[in-house]
Amino acid sequence: MCPQKVRHLLGAHQFFRDFLFESLPWHMSENSIKNIPKILPTIQKKCLEIGFTMPSDLLIGTFLKSLVASKRGGSFLELGTGIGLSLAWMVDGMDNASQLISIDNDPSLTKIVSEWFALDHRVNILCQDGAEWIKTYTGEKFDLIFADTWPGKYYELEETLALLKIGGFYIIDDMNSQPNWPEGHAEKAKTLIGKLESLKDFTFTQLDWSTGVILMCKIS
Ligand SMILES: C[S@@+](CC[C@H](N)C(=O)[O-])C[C@H]1O[C@@H](n2cnc3c(N)ncnc32)[C@H](O)[C@@H]1O
Repeated sequence: MCPQKVRHLLGAHQFFRDFLFESLPWHMSENSIKNIPKILPTIQKKCLEIGFTMPSDLLIGTFLKSLVASKRGGSFLELGTGIGLSLAWMVDGMDNASQLISIDNDPSLTKIVSEWFALDHRVNILCQDGAEWIKTYTGEKFDLIFADTWPGKYYELEETLALLKIGGFYIIDDMNSQPNWPEGHAEKAKTLIGKLESLKDFTFTQLDWSTGVILMCKIS
């Protein structure tokens, strides 16, 4: 089937799904999320202002918050700070003894986000190429890694997974086909999913929810 037709069908599928759910008495959606981080409206406003088109959605935000909250005194890594949306949810789940490193290679983004979190001693935002950072990091291993950019997901995968503690979570999203994906990206996503599913040291859970999420736990 030609890509235009697939895009058209995906759009129609989404339309009917939204229509069906909206006509039900109750269904859970992004619109029903209530306890959002205090900073979120500021982030959303800035996102529109600067035209940042890749923020994480609220669903994955709530998911990350709960996973982060399960690791008291935890150590967390985010690859792809972006505009700080997923970061804000993760920080909301952290206790006082937790630490988070978030990395992005775009200085205009890290400057904005660093200002918001400057007073939070638990948060360390780095402006660096993710692949370089992964290859040279020698510190403590992590309880959770949210890999929301190329390094740590489509490349430097083994090195990133090696940074997890046993019992630690590895999370990625954007794994369901999107109409705006460039030619060939769906194949890359499929290959990545196959690779992750074959790993013996990890559990593997795929969620057809949000933008398509994979949650893995390191077991040995
Ligand atoms: C999907 S966005 C992250 C969105 C973010 N989680 C949020 O909620 O705003 C991916 C980010 O990865 C960054 N990026 C792209 N290539 C990178 C690299 N090689 N190293 C570090 N960051 C990179 C981009 O600047 C972009 O901000």
